[in-house]
Amino acid sequence: MKKCLCLILAGLFVLTGCSKEEDKTAPALELTKSRIQVGLNTKIDYTSFVQKAVDEVDGDLVSAVQYNEVDTSKVGQSQIQYTVKDESGNESQQTLIVDVVKYFKNGIYNPLNVTPDTVKNPDDVTVLVNKVHQIPEGWVPDDLEPVIDNKNQKLRKEANDAYTKFYNAAKSKGIDIYSISGYRTNATQTLYWNNQVKVYGEEYASQYSAYPGRSEHQLGLAIDISYTTQGDRLSEKVATSPIGKFIVSDAYKYGFILRYQKDKVAITNYGYEPWHMRYVGVELATKLHENGLTLEEYYKQ
Ligand code: DAL
Ligand code: ZN
Repeated sequence: MKKCLCLILAGLFVLTGCSKEEDKTAPALELTKSRIQVGLNTKIDYTSFVQKAVDEVDGDLVSAVQYNEVDTSKVGQSQIQYTVKDESGNESQQTLIVDVVKYFKNGIYNPLNVTPDTVKNPDDVTVLVNKVHQIPEGWVPDDLEPVIDNKNQKLRKEANDAYTKFYNAAKSKGIDIYSISGYRTNATQTLYWNNQVKVYGEEYASQYSAYPGRSEHQLGLAIDISYTTQGDRLSEKVATSPIGKFIVSDAYKYGFILRYQKDKVAITNYGYEPWHMRYVGVELATKLHENGLTLEEYYKQ
């Protein structure tokens, strides 16, 4: 009898011991974003960036997530390190990069407030280039071609083939398109940026012009188009023109997106540009169109 009880106890010990030892898997910790911009002296809602913290054995651990706080009293970059541990001591960490920026009255920040990281895939038509992601220095596309309606404006071959189809589709509906600005070299973008700062000031320049190295035009995948070559070619008048409406309804079918939309200014941090089309390929353009997403939202950046 004694022997029997001993065996049962030993069995229980092994069983419970084993089940504890078995939890060698760290909790899954996911953030909603990998990089954010916050205004000077704003309060950060730290927990709002935790997408999930869940452990196979211990279940939901969102309330156990720990993080450091960051100083928002100075413009610059810092990091929030999120950590979560399960009951067996397995730990997961995730980092959120925080750019503290000074917003102008128009809700836009100066690109000089942030240190951009450099994209590793500038050849990829789906690459995200914006105020915080720059093109590698010296990188230039090697398959530029003049666009159908203007020999002075260029796009990369794949984007150009798509633009030609888009152009012809518009033409067949009686809509005229005039390409104003396609590929730009770093030198041209530098001229544009410097000129905008000089003529209109940093607030306006930051709203409508990318800092050199951070423009999609340098990828050879963006083109500004209008209904006219005269006067106020790139203004909000494009939005109500037939071509402006055709961009909104049909551009995605050819792989283009309207990159800087009116209701997404807080996300893209550029002013509304109803004329700026960006090629990303039909698959991604369709996904973004159907889900109402910007590239920033798609990449969670
Ligand atoms: N106007 C857009 C933001 C550019 O300069 O690339
Ligand atoms: Zn543009």
